[in-house]
Amino acid sequence: MNGSKSGREHWGSKVGFVFAAAGSAIGLGNIWKFPYLTGQHGGGAFVLIYIICILVLGLPIMIAEIVIGRHTEKDPVGAFKIIGGGGRWTAVGYLGVLSGFFILSYYSVVGGWTLGYIVKTITGVVGGITDTSSAEAVFSAFIKNPVEMVLYHFLFMALTVWIVLGGVKNGIEKWNKFLLPILFVIIIVLIVRGLTMEGASRGLAFYLKPDFSRVTVFTVIEALGQCFFSLSLGMGAMITYGSYLSKSDKTLDSSLQIAGLDTMAAFLSGLAIFPAVYAVGMTPAKGPGLTFNILPVVFSRMAYGNVFALLFFVLLFIAALTSAMSLLEVTVAYSTDEKGWGRRKSVLIFGSLIFLLGIPSSLSFNVLSDVKIFFGLTFFDFMDKLTTIYMLPVGGLLIAICLGWKYGLRNTMHELDTDTGLQFLKKIWAFAIKYVSPVILVLIILYFGVYRMLVP
Ligand code: PFF
Repeated sequence: MNGSKSGREHWGSKVGFVFAAAGSAIGLGNIWKFPYLTGQHGGGAFVLIYIICILVLGLPIMIAEIVIGRHTEKDPVGAFKIIGGGGRWTAVGYLGVLSGFFILSYYSVVGGWTLGYIVKTITGVVGGITDTSSAEAVFSAFIKNPVEMVLYHFLFMALTVWIVLGGVKNGIEKWNKFLLPILFVIIIVLIVRGLTMEGASRGLAFYLKPDFSRVTVFTVIEALGQCFFSLSLGMGAMITYGSYLSKSDKTLDSSLQIAGLDTMAAFLSGLAIFPAVYAVGMTPAKGPGLTFNILPVVFSRMAYGNVFALLFFVLLFIAALTSAMSLLEVTVAYSTDEKGWGRRKSVLIFGSLIFLLGIPSSLSFNVLSDVKIFFGLTFFDFMDKLTTIYMLPVGGLLIAICLGWKYGLRNTMHELDTDTGLQFLKKIWAFAIKYVSPVILVLIILYFGVYRMLVP
């Protein structure tokens, strides 16, 4: 299956594609954002709403991106030259490549933190943490050290570069097939550990007890935004991965599998975290606070805590690394397809540029902590907000409009499967892309991009 008339490299197998795309989707968003959102927004009720969001918004856009990729066999810029007719629509492709470039620059900084904590666990620093204040002291000393920050950011980027240099099949696919099963095994080991602790049921109740009184319109928009980021949509990562599919590979059932794996990883992460947090008498926080200030204390209070701490930080590291590969590959596909550069040159140049752009982000916690870019945001926060709140939803909106209204779905319907018994889904998908997704994405942009920025 490797190689084609066009000379484009292809995945070694369809499973390889599903693993790589799931690896892109399963990232820090699943492990440190989804569980907390769920606990805060009505437990089981939120899980239900989230699944509906995946069906209504996530899956249609994911299918659209994969279809565009397989149809055009191009990077996002080349793809939009084709489906947008070569005019202004090409800008959507550039927006995607730029989003990949920007996101990886700060994602890699956090990826570096996970590496740093793996080292701190092995060297016994994490094991020495006994309460929240010592955990906070360790974390704050870590991020306040500019040399360490840049060094770990460099190491994380270097690893990503090294894997992507190996190519689609022998780099990205091979590593995802190796790492993703490990990720799921670690989550399951952590779940078993957490659930067998005394007092775990209080954590389960916080996480899953359905509470519909907490559900508002805003909860739904929150779930929509989360599912969009979690599935790596809106910037052409799935267009790029889809462009390496061979014509005999199905798109509809792969999309269902990718979304299924991503949702499962998010759901299971909460099961791995909350029972243990409550069992040791603590309460959860969100994002980095939960991971670096609370979990080390939780591990210190359980038997063999060091082993579980190591497993947890390796889990986070794998999740970040497999997502980073897809972000870098978007920029690499652009320069190989559009500029005719070789893979080696593309990876080394874009890897270096992204590393450089990440430096101000890694310094946002120390030397540059007082430097505010816009709205009082540090460089790190600015890049995060710019990409996740504006660039991705706008990208997704334009992808849906360009495919549904400009290029026309009739030209791409044959890219969906015909023999999986999922025929009726084609019509639903067409309706979703033309009408439902654009409306929802406008709502997301208005809520996160306007309302929440003005009324925090
Ligand atoms: N899906 C990743 C996460 O949940 O952390 C983040 C991400 C990766 C977004 C790749 C976009 C992307 F292209």
